[in-house]
Amino acid sequence: MKPTAARTAADYLKKILTARVYDVAIESPLDAAPVLSRRIGNHVLLKREDLQPVFSFKLRGAYNKMVHLSPEQRARGVICASAGNHAQGVALAARRLGCTAVVVMPVTTPKLKIDAVKALGGDVVLQGESYSDAYAHAMTLQAERGLTFVHPFDDPDVIAGQGTVAMEVLRQHQGPIDAVFVAIGGGGLVSGVAAYIKAVRPEIQVIGVQTTDSDAMAKSVEAGKRVQLDDVGLFSDGTAVKLVGQETFRVTRQLVDGFVRVDTDAVCAAIKDVFQDTRSILEPAGALGVAAIKQYAQQHGLKGRTFVAITCGANMNFDRLRFVAERAEFGEQREALFAVTIPEERGSFRRFCELIGPRPVTEFNYRISDASLAHVFVGIGIHKRDEAAKIARSFERHGFATLDLTDDEMAKEHLRHMVGGRTALAADERLFRFVFPERPGALMRFLATMHPTWNISLFHYRNQGADYGRILVGLQVPTADEPAFRDFVASLAYPCVEETLNPVYRLFLR
Ligand SMILES: Cc1ncc(COP(=O)(O)O)c(C=O)c1O
Repeated sequence: MKPTAARTAADYLKKILTARVYDVAIESPLDAAPVLSRRIGNHVLLKREDLQPVFSFKLRGAYNKMVHLSPEQRARGVICASAGNHAQGVALAARRLGCTAVVVMPVTTPKLKIDAVKALGGDVVLQGESYSDAYAHAMTLQAERGLTFVHPFDDPDVIAGQGTVAMEVLRQHQGPIDAVFVAIGGGGLVSGVAAYIKAVRPEIQVIGVQTTDSDAMAKSVEAGKRVQLDDVGLFSDGTAVKLVGQETFRVTRQLVDGFVRVDTDAVCAAIKDVFQDTRSILEPAGALGVAAIKQYAQQHGLKGRTFVAITCGANMNFDRLRFVAERAEFGEQREALFAVTIPEERGSFRRFCELIGPRPVTEFNYRISDASLAHVFVGIGIHKRDEAAKIARSFERHGFATLDLTDDEMAKEHLRHMVGGRTALAADERLFRFVFPERPGALMRFLATMHPTWNISLFHYRNQGADYGRILVGLQVPTADEPAFRDFVASLAYPCVEETLNPVYRLFLR
């Protein structure tokens, strides 16, 4: 980067106005988000950079940098280091400009992204375990082969290319805008956006957004100097940067009005919000702006404002969706988790079920482990976070000791999958898998038909939003009860498969 290339907001304004991006980029729509807007009482607009040809804004900066190279530089070719969206932007820009692009990626890069870069004609070199290793190798290759390095963020031409996003926003929405929320990794996008907005409509707040576990820019601005993080969370991989750029730090520090840090659950909830309004799925980094709007409006008690979120990317691995869907419920504060202790005595289980009443049960896990007490891991659908405490108090009032696990990371991530295990108390246990149509109250009706004729010694259920609920149940059936039990199974309206002889049951549960 040439430090003197663009020093003032006026320089950047000119660079952004003369940036060339539309040979590869589209002018993305600025869409309303009516469902979210209604819910939070503010007018939310989404700048749909997830709809770009490589599913992120990154091609704007890469192309603007590369189109401004001299013909000789382009003839020698370019190089970049990236594990993600920048790589795709550089490869697409190179194809468009007819030059070669070497893309150095860490060996850990998902195949999906390697294939995407190769499909765009990029010459992929896999080197090192991390981005820093790949970067160091790219520097070596650059020197050896006389290539031009295309930085993912710390370059005035890259910053200016990203700034064209703000130029479009202000053209697309000429009414009042209170604030624009921008995800920050190395700071290229926020620098370009802030440079343009502060030059043209300085009354609009520019808010940078980071995840709580990858907040190098917020920390650097707070410290008044660039701070290098030892480690960064990788969930929002597009913004996982340990050290921000020199130029991006300078511009951000000067022009960005504030920062919001959001956690993983809030990001997952924001992915769901955007899906509900657009039927599109963002990658985590792409949803930071929306997560921040919700948090910011709530914290400051704001209503009736107009907020813009740049939905900046959609390169989402499909296999991450399960995690996102699971955590979105917590981020939305729509699910509460409890460990409830129930006396192992007739009628107490039914009393517990009655207390839950018509609330949706999202999870029910139990394994007999004590002759006199049953510890049940239960998930319940709620509307607001404070309902969890109310439910816990109601359980306690009725004599059921309760732990509220709604904010317990270990419970959410691990323990829910680990309730179970071998026990000497499961004599005469038979194991069954049941399937029943998933509808409100169905689980509670199922439990009522099971109990208390035979003791339930194991129960596992998780609502996965599927058409059918799937339950694993252990019932203690003495041999003498066999004929009665057979009649009972035959009378059930639910299809069931006996799993008592399944070898995995023997290995882990008996
Ligand atoms: C989807 C997405 N959002 C945000 C960012 C962060 O951009 P910057 O490094 O310019 O801050 C990136 C960077 O790759 C990204 O891919």
